[in-house]
Amino acid sequence: MTDRPTLLINTTIATMIAADVPYGLIEDAAIVMEQEKIVWVGARADLPPQYGLSETHDLEGRLVTPALIDCHTHLVSGGNRAREFEMRLEGASYEEIARAGGGIVSTVKATRTTSEDDLLSDALRRVDALIAEGVAVIEIKSGYGLDQDTELKMLRVARRIADERPMSVHTTFLGAHAVPPEFKGRADAYIDDVCIPALKAAHAQGLVDAVDGFCEGIAFDTTQIARVFDVAKELGLPVKLHAEQLSNLGGAKLAASYGALSADHIEYLDQDGVAAMASAGTVAVILPGAFYTLRETQVPPIDLLRKHNIPMALATDANPGSSPLTSLLLTMNMACTLFRLTPEEALAGATRNAALALGLDQQGTLTPGSRADFAVWDVIHPAELAYRIGFNPLHTRIFGGKIEDA
Ligand code: NIG
Ligand code: FE
Repeated sequence: MTDRPTLLINTTIATMIAADVPYGLIEDAAIVMEQEKIVWVGARADLPPQYGLSETHDLEGRLVTPALIDCHTHLVSGGNRAREFEMRLEGASYEEIARAGGGIVSTVKATRTTSEDDLLSDALRRVDALIAEGVAVIEIKSGYGLDQDTELKMLRVARRIADERPMSVHTTFLGAHAVPPEFKGRADAYIDDVCIPALKAAHAQGLVDAVDGFCEGIAFDTTQIARVFDVAKELGLPVKLHAEQLSNLGGAKLAASYGALSADHIEYLDQDGVAAMASAGTVAVILPGAFYTLRETQVPPIDLLRKHNIPMALATDANPGSSPLTSLLLTMNMACTLFRLTPEEALAGATRNAALALGLDQQGTLTPGSRADFAVWDVIHPAELAYRIGFNPLHTRIFGGKIEDA
């Protein structure tokens, strides 16, 4: 990157700015970036003359979109759960495995005993898979430690990813993910004695950008989640929630009452929850990878979300149990095929609305003033991104104005 502005020409751009034109598409477009920011976007014919002397890159007709954003992941974890995959194929359900001490708790054991460096190198392989598909921003949750030391270790690993790779990382404290074995049957004590103190310690060390929980029969009820959210509020941290994934406990409504950034999964979300999310401006994060892996049959209420103009984001939910998925492009395809999202909704879900789910207003669209994070694709039309299965047409990734080859 030079100090001179950089001009990208000979491209079609999907600005993803919500407007009358599908995808905010501009043909024969140009983009000017300076330092880490976009300074001008539009039809090439309208390019202001002062940018004529910029360092110019010919994109040879390729499509530019905002870089992708994966707004819900559990990318840092120890071990894997291939054995559980086998058990599920032999007939056991996700809930049965969890109740028998498998599931999240088995990843907790592995994460506690894996060193910080090993967790990092393992996570980087998954991060690299996302980078290869044009992802520039990821959210990473803790929640496989369930003791203070390991929760903090996971969050430090998440922060280190941004030093190791050209990637922006947003961390989320998910201490209320499951009850650890040493607190079996004592969920309230776990929340008070471990989860809340660990949240305060992680926050004091600058390791937390947001707070999440798992509101479900196999995890925590709304009263327990509310206690964690009260502390988040005291600390000035935004909240989000794994809600209504396997049943309806009213988690989304609770989250909305705290002004949550997002309610995630939401297969069992009802009219009441949708209305609460709409009035709080809470984003719906759709996670088709977990739906697919667990062979769920209850589809999130997409039409209701549309009717209430609730922004829908998409994410991989990358985790070793319910969604061992590290492809956001495949996630987009699944959202269309399984949940009937349009390819435009899918791309908005992995860009503009994913940014909203992270509380970012300077990312996820191609707008002057936004960060210059783009993906350059070898496709003609943006619908191709969600249409193909297992194909990666990324040509170049641009991160903070810096051009990388894919
Ligand atoms: O988002 N729903 C809860 N948490 C994860 C699953 C984690 C696991 O099974 O390890 C999820 O699907
Ligand atoms: Fe999750």
